Parts: sequence; C-alpha cells; structure tokens
Amino acid sequence: MIALKTERELEVVAENARLLREILLDLAARVEPGITTGELDRLAERWIRAAGAAPAFKGYQGYPATLCCSVNAEVVHGIPSFRRVLREGDVISLDLGLRRGGYYADAAVTVGVGQVGPEAQALVRATLAALRAALEAAKIGAHVSDLSYAIESTARRFGFYPVKEFVGHGIGRALHEDPQIPNFGPPGFGPVLREGMVLCPEPMLKGDDLPVRILPDGWTAVTGSGALAAHFEEMVALTPEGPWVLTGWVGEEIWAKRS
Ligand code: MF3
Ligand code: CO
Repeated sequence: MIALKTERELEVVAENARLLREILLDLAARVEPGITTGELDRLAERWIRAAGAAPAFKGYQGYPATLCCSVNAEVVHGIPSFRRVLREGDVISLDLGLRRGGYYADAAVTVGVGQVGPEAQALVRATLAALRAALEAAKIGAHVSDLSYAIESTARRFGFYPVKEFVGHGIGRALHEDPQIPNFGPPGFGPVLREGMVLCPEPMLKGDDLPVRILPDGWTAVTGSGALAAHFEEMVALTPEGPWVLTGWVGEEIWAKRS
C-alpha cells in the first residue's frame, strides 16, 4: 500500500527535508583530511537533536549510529568510527535520516575529501546524473520502474553499473514505505505514480558489475572487486506541477560549490 500525503502532511515532510538538507550541507563542509567518521556522526546527531528531531537510523534493525559513512569501495551502511580517519582523495557517502512530528526525512550525498581523482569525479558525475534522471521521471502517471530505468540507463551511458542489492523507497510516517525503487530494470512496470506520493530514489553506482559483499560488521556493503562506489539520495513529492525535490538538489549543490 502506497501512502498518499495530504497537503498538511506534505508541509511537515517538506520542513523536515529542508532541515535534513541543511545538516547535510553543514556535514559536507566539515569533510576534510584528518576528520573521522565518528566525529561526523557525533555532529549529525547533535544538530538533529538541537532542531528538536531524532535520528532515524539509530536502532533501526539494530543499526548503531545516526549517520552512514561509506568510504571509497564501501557502497552503503558504513558504520562511523573514531578510528576511521578520512584522507585526501577519498570519496565518502553521508547518508542521514531524521524524524520529527511523526514524519521521516532521508537523503544521502557523496562528498570528496580534498581533491579527488578523475575516476571518482566521473563516478560522482554519473551518479548525480542518474539521480537527476530519476527525479525528473517522478511524474504523475509514470510507473515506478521508469525511475529504475532512468537510473540504470544513465549509469550505463556513463560506463558504470547500478547496485542491484539495494533499493530506493517511499517515505512518510515510516522510514521505508512502499514502493521499492530498484536501481535497474525496464520502464513501464510497477505501481503508477500519483499525487501525494513522496519517494526517495537512491542510485548507487560503481565501477564493477559484481555482487556487493557485506563485511563481518553485518552492515557495511562493499563492491565485489574493491571498485569505487558513489551514492546520492533525495526526497521528491509528486505534484500536478511536476516533481518537487524536497531536499533541494543538495547533492548537485555540494558539487557545484566544489568544482
Ligand atoms: N538511506 C538508507 C535507507 O534508506 C539508510 C538506512 S540505514 C539504516 O535504507 F541503518 F537505517 F538501515
Ligand atoms: Co533511503
């Protein structure tokens, strides 16, 4: 069942998405050589609580932190640690969720640590393009898999591969609502998109086409060959005027500033 949001609900969701956007921008500004992922996690939790919200991931299926920090070949769900020091040239996905007033917000950006190499830049550019294509496909009357197709076809056009083991999702009173949004597949399948839906497409792209592995910590997903991975996620509401990106293209904003 796909929950449709009323205009009043959408106002709360949009306000939470704006808060999440600001926190992700502030976190991205703190990413530099020498900082640990544990420090980023502590900042994220402090800023979320200061705004009267609560972390969405902490305790979710036993996840131990506020933020997911996935560095280089780590795809998603990297657990922050005060022993994990970021170094020049790393790429890190910051994935963050919060809850306030009964509604969730969830988004992710991949950020470069100092100057990153050409392969990382190409991967980030491709993943941003895949997310943009998915967000632009989020129109009333389209099918869920039109977003999937937009992601996979963009990834392949850039010479990268979509992650198949994780999906985007609906969001609202729960962190993960229907529908699931795979990062691959043909267009024209799945539920029809309707006014009032709020979706979180989250393309994850990588340089190999092997299955991802889960590390012994039970959470961290890594690419099969050690190839780099990138991940972006935004919240989009389906409106008669077209897709409304509630998190305001935060990924593109971060990379526009940096390049
Ligand atoms: N953005 C991710 C998702 O939608 C983050 C979940 S991490 C978890 O699944 F710890 F909460 F599982
Ligand atoms: Co998500």
